[in-house]
Amino acid sequence: MKRDVRILLLGEPKVGKTSLIMTLVGEEFPEQVPLRAEEITIPADVTPEKVPTHIVDYSETEQTDEVLRDEIVKANVVCVVYDVTQEETIDKIRTKWIPLVNGDAEKGKKVPIILVGNKSDLRSGSSMETILPIMNQFSEIETCVECSAKNLKNISELFYYAQKAVLHPTAPLYDPEDKQLKPLCVRALSRIFSISDQDNDRLLSDSELNTFQKSCFGNPLAPQALDDVKTVVWKNTSDGVLDNGLTLNGFLFLNTLFIQRGRHETTWTILRRFGYDDTLELTDDYLYPQLRVPLGCSTELNHLGHQFLQRVFDKYDEDRDCALSPSELKNLFAVFPYMPWGNEAYSSVTTGDNNYVSLQAFNCQWMLWAYVDVQRCMEYLGYLGYPILTEQDSLTTAITVSREKALDLEKGQTQRAVFLCKVIGPRGTGKTSFLQAFLGRHNLTRPDCSSAACSPYAVNSVQVTNQEKHLILFEVDVETEFLKASDAGCDVACLMYDTTDPQSFSYCASIYKQHYMDSGVPCVLVSSKVDQPEVAQQYGMTPAEFCYKHRLPPPMPFSTTHPDTRIYSKLAWAAMYPVDRSRSWSVEAVRQHLNGSEMSSTSFWLRMALGTAMVTVLGFALYRALNRPK
Ligand code: GTP
Ligand code: MG
Repeated sequence: MKRDVRILLLGEPKVGKTSLIMTLVGEEFPEQVPLRAEEITIPADVTPEKVPTHIVDYSETEQTDEVLRDEIVKANVVCVVYDVTQEETIDKIRTKWIPLVNGDAEKGKKVPIILVGNKSDLRSGSSMETILPIMNQFSEIETCVECSAKNLKNISELFYYAQKAVLHPTAPLYDPEDKQLKPLCVRALSRIFSISDQDNDRLLSDSELNTFQKSCFGNPLAPQALDDVKTVVWKNTSDGVLDNGLTLNGFLFLNTLFIQRGRHETTWTILRRFGYDDTLELTDDYLYPQLRVPLGCSTELNHLGHQFLQRVFDKYDEDRDCALSPSELKNLFAVFPYMPWGNEAYSSVTTGDNNYVSLQAFNCQWMLWAYVDVQRCMEYLGYLGYPILTEQDSLTTAITVSREKALDLEKGQTQRAVFLCKVIGPRGTGKTSFLQAFLGRHNLTRPDCSSAACSPYAVNSVQVTNQEKHLILFEVDVETEFLKASDAGCDVACLMYDTTDPQSFSYCASIYKQHYMDSGVPCVLVSSKVDQPEVAQQYGMTPAEFCYKHRLPPPMPFSTTHPDTRIYSKLAWAAMYPVDRSRSWSVEAVRQHLNGSEMSSTSFWLRMALGTAMVTVLGFALYRALNRPK
């Protein structure tokens, strides 16, 4: 909505422009007026719509055409004043003033115009008959009003209409020629209808109408008013009321009626409450609120966000099978300007037969959005109507920004629930299979991920010390990634090498040395294809020796033929209890371990941390023995 309103009065000489302004301000008719009144500003609190309003006079004698053109450009609304007793001042509306104001403007960009018939005290009848054809000819004319400066008749009304024409314009909503709502307005109101239809039965029940009324206007409708509304719709439409509820057509009819009765502000209040601006697009303030995410912090949906999404899921799970079919999913996203859930989303979460999406998979996708692109996540929540339905001020209340990673590292523990793991390894190592196995898609001879459709992400829940956490695996593209140091950033790095390829490990070793050795990011080595015969790696030392040297947990074996899914918990565990490799094991990690975590492969290191004596006694031989492939 505009923050202030600039009203310009135009018209033939001596029609009474200056007198109208002076009468409004002085509350009495001045016998003597100057040629042109000074520009006046009416403070917000004394105007009906509480918006500061500037009123600007024009005088042909005092102002040049150039100045006039300038004033027209600055004006938000133009009052074309005529003298009801002078026909020629009416003719000039059509032949001079409207072409001057809007002659070059394209449709939809025209300045709204109010026709003002002054000196009604001098004429008994009305000028309506002459005015109506003009109103029909120019759709930018919002309304006309007859008044008298002399009798102080309709003076404040005239300025009220002018203010309203700016703040609640007709043009974006309604086509006066077709006498119907414009397509963009229908689109916006239809979205508002779907969001307000909380049980998804395509009807607004009494209670839904009340909630709607309350969120838009602050108070519920009286029972009688509710009935009256429905009766009006029922009488005037064939399909506006069904089973005592308001249909979409009924809702659209009601808004058409508001506008036709000059109550645009009602429809505008609804639209603005749901985030729309004057062009009927969702505002940036609504969709993209400021959320400060300092470097090293991550973003997650909090319980408010999850609760809301659960509600949305239940609403669209029409057959109550606890999964969204592709068509249910399409309905859910119908309030979006585009479909955000495509093949990429399907490939990044677990999906059932026929691409059914469980609540758990649905949540996983949202957690992915929240983590990797929080702005987009909030935008999506905005399309779903989160702030309105949850009665929150902003989309940001659905998001939690974690504390800085450096602090987590320092304390050796974290409050986060979602972790990002980058899966790194040379081409053909089995990274995609590793991601797919995380989603329960095993034994793919060749992962059926054509590059365009397949997401580089896989998200699923994991159990870490009896808590449910979520792990995002991201497959790093060997060729394009790691150009910048920031590409290496994540909560845990999974360095994967192929036990059947002798060149494989050296790649991991060099990535580790280049990006992770001094970074504080926990690293886990994974050896892939362990169901096949192992070959010696062409590197200065064996992977096990490398891990020993760099104080990394020994490589974890993985095979897609018998995937050990505990490996994913281990990755999350490593992310949750990061360890400063240059110092010692974190106390928290040790405590968690002693509490019964099943990190068998790291036990050796824990013993190292607990007693150096053991190291000297057992040395590297024990390390080897403990980690011999099973
Ligand atoms: P320009 O500045 O020359 O363009 O004229 P204007 O449109 O500003 O008109 P102005 O206010 O100077 O009024 C012109 C004459 O009409 C004055 O003599 C006013 O007293 C008179 N007048 C203005 N309004 C009314 C009205 O409502 N009724 C009557 N009877 N006379 C009016
Ligand atoms: Mg004047």
